[in-house]
Amino acid sequence: MSERARYFAEETWTGGVIGLGYVGLPLAVTMAHRGLEVIGFDVSPSRVEQLNAGISPVEDVTDAELAAALGSGLSITADPQRLTAADALFVCVPSPLGRHREPDLSYIEAAVATVAAVVRPGMLVSLESTTYPGTTEDLVIPAVTNGGLVLDEDVFVAFSPERVNPGAEVKTGQIPKVVGGVSPASAAVARAAYARIVDTVHPVTSARVAEMSKLLENTYRAVNIALINEMAQLAHQLDIDIWEVVEAAATKPFGFQAFYPGPGVGGHCIPLDPQFLAWRAREANVATRFIDLAEQVNKEMPAYTVRRIADLLNERRSPVAGSRILGVGIAYKPNIADDRESASLDVLRLLARRGAEIAVLDPVVGADRIASHGFTPVEAGDDLTEFDIAVLLTDHDALDLEALAKSVPLVLDTRGAYRRHGITGDAIVAL
Ligand SMILES: NC(=O)c1ccc[n+]([C@@H]2O[C@H](COP(=O)([O-])OP(=O)(O)OC[C@H]3O[C@@H](n4cnc5c(N)ncnc54)[C@H](O)[C@@H]3O)[C@@H](O)[C@H]2O)c1
Repeated sequence: MSERARYFAEETWTGGVIGLGYVGLPLAVTMAHRGLEVIGFDVSPSRVEQLNAGISPVEDVTDAELAAALGSGLSITADPQRLTAADALFVCVPSPLGRHREPDLSYIEAAVATVAAVVRPGMLVSLESTTYPGTTEDLVIPAVTNGGLVLDEDVFVAFSPERVNPGAEVKTGQIPKVVGGVSPASAAVARAAYARIVDTVHPVTSARVAEMSKLLENTYRAVNIALINEMAQLAHQLDIDIWEVVEAAATKPFGFQAFYPGPGVGGHCIPLDPQFLAWRAREANVATRFIDLAEQVNKEMPAYTVRRIADLLNERRSPVAGSRILGVGIAYKPNIADDRESASLDVLRLLARRGAEIAVLDPVVGADRIASHGFTPVEAGDDLTEFDIAVLLTDHDALDLEALAKSVPLVLDTRGAYRRHGITGDAIVAL
């Protein structure tokens, strides 16, 4: 083990986390919890103020956990110069797609510029933002070596994809972490550092393997979700219950993993990450037919969901225009307040465009956010009997599904939630 790797393996070092969102904050809190010193840096002064007031903006970190971290090794700042005191920097900033679905690297570039301004001998710099294979080599190495520091002697560079699953039970430190250095020396240092943060490190031979492994994970999900979404449409046409089909297939003890249909894919991973690969593939002149097809099928699901709602209303001699439709759940997945890229919003906007009156019940996302999308917020205790149909789009645990089905004439369940909870009734129709 090199001297620097030994330092990270044995000493109480200081980590600097750049970007304190869904990924960076749990990472910073986990590091503090595991006895390291942590400097959390975010460009947003309001975010820094909120965190220093002990208010966690993400579900995976409770206020109590944040308070405990602030009371042990964690300090939070909007001053990038504080990062000069860190031994290792972890970059956790957004990596969205641009208007033409090309990678928008502006956040990573800005964060890397911050790194370049504070990097000093002995530092490890690890990029965690999801991105195309080659980013760490293309952007991070030049930034950290520009000032004359020598890679693998003065400074060490790695990529380690984040696999945090907001709202899930398994937390950052427990999820195995893939770690790829840009060279064997960088890999050894990164591996030693991450072994202090997470229970299991899975080393790979390069940063590019680590970058691509993240994209494969989410492309795998996107493709399989698309497959089951296509199957759901076929099953409906054949008058077969897709949920029962999946449940039956899932009893096979090998060779089958259950995926479920829904109103489309949402969030900032599944719809986006395959596009990083597709973009890189275009540059390399390689076709990505599975990615393209999955995108096409998944993107069509909100329109399919709207067609199903229109058919149900039609059976009751009602047009979509003028119908009162209750959208239930606008978060992109259950039990979180994040509605970025949510397919629920696509469904409701399409319905609104066809003249439906839309109200939204989402006890997790909350009324202000619902209103910010132009929809009327509804509370669980409100009178729901005026609605013509409810469409269950996100099955939060906090929803009383039984009460919902009793109070509206019809529910289209796009998540198979009623079946899962064993609730049946004439008013409940599955996607
Ligand atoms: N959220 C997830 O479930 C998840 C899971 C795996 C991977 N990822 C990836 O992790 C990365 C971060 O995602 P997120 O969901 O945590 O984003 P987020 O929007 O929740 O948080 C990002 C934070 O970074 C801050 N920031 C932006 N630019 C900055 C800069 N230059 N310097 C310092 N701070 C800056 C923002 O103010 C914000 O607080 C993305 O690449 C994302 O694709 C996210």
